[in-house]
Amino acid sequence: MAFGEMATIPRAGPAFDVAHVMSRPMPGVTPRPEWTRRHLLGLEELSPTEILCLLDRAEEFKRLADAGATKLDLLAGTVVANLFFEPSTRTRTSFGLAAKRLSADTVDFSSSGSSVSKGETFLDTARTIEAMGVSHVVVRHNVPGAPHLLAKRLRASVLNAGDGTHEHPTQGLLDIFTIRQHKGRIEGLTVTLVGDILHSRVARSNIWGLTKLGARVIVCGPATLIPPKIERLGVSVSTNLDEVLGVSDCVNLLRVQFERQRGAFFPSIREYAHLFGMNRERLKKAKADLLVLAPGPINRGVELTAEVADGGQSVILDQVTNGLLIRMACLSLLHETRQRETERMTI
Ligand code: CP
Repeated sequence: MAFGEMATIPRAGPAFDVAHVMSRPMPGVTPRPEWTRRHLLGLEELSPTEILCLLDRAEEFKRLADAGATKLDLLAGTVVANLFFEPSTRTRTSFGLAAKRLSADTVDFSSSGSSVSKGETFLDTARTIEAMGVSHVVVRHNVPGAPHLLAKRLRASVLNAGDGTHEHPTQGLLDIFTIRQHKGRIEGLTVTLVGDILHSRVARSNIWGLTKLGARVIVCGPATLIPPKIERLGVSVSTNLDEVLGVSDCVNLLRVQFERQRGAFFPSIREYAHLFGMNRERLKKAKADLLVLAPGPINRGVELTAEVADGGQSVILDQVTNGLLIRMACLSLLHETRQRETERMTI
């Protein structure tokens, strides 16, 4: 897809560029001056401290929600726009709800039914939405780097909700949060990412996040779906799930991304499920406390059987619940950066 030039479109005015609510302490939410980023584009560029900052903020939101405080006014007076140029159930709904829980107004944009079908470019579309007073833009796009382009060209904070095969940082964070919730730590664990590593942005975000926090990561799948030289990212490679199950503390079962594949990468879905699908027999070969994750959308009978998806070791719905907390954490920390910038400008 071509990104159009925007030289003739004026920048949004300053009224939309400032954080409207000055920062003030909120009981149960620790200020994080160590977080200085305006955008969340990937986990590759984050330090371990920054990742922990996000996880710990999500933990605080969990404690507040458990105590009954489901609505917070941290983003009151701001507008969060969801710009989805690819389908989504979890990410889109959860970003929308996260914004509402933080008292932001929300705008929901889908490319289907929009003026994109009349030829409007990605950038024109994004800047048109931004000009309505948007402070945070959540974007999903099939082109790697699309959120990075918006971060350069918009005044709003940009959150990557998945860019092609590149990264899906909030999915990586919620996976890591869920593992930490159940295992009590990340350091020293062995996490095996199973399936279509080649086309998976979730795999990349998991690899960056988990290795930075001291986990051992194994990528496992058909040889055709493992990128060459992926060991350079600090992971081990296996093409035999049965060989690595016994050493794994967690498996994250990635969806086979048929929509991104050009050509056949394995003979049949039936064979894929036979070799890489998680089922009752495989669970018996694994550690008794193996944690089963799947970012979804899940395909029962392909990456895992229904029995495993709904079984006691599956934390798939916990991942969804935690996704809300993680997205609240991301929105609130980016907003704090904007508030600090505004306060510095007004002193
Ligand atoms: N895991 C994930 O990104 O799911 P959605 O495509 O439903 O958002």
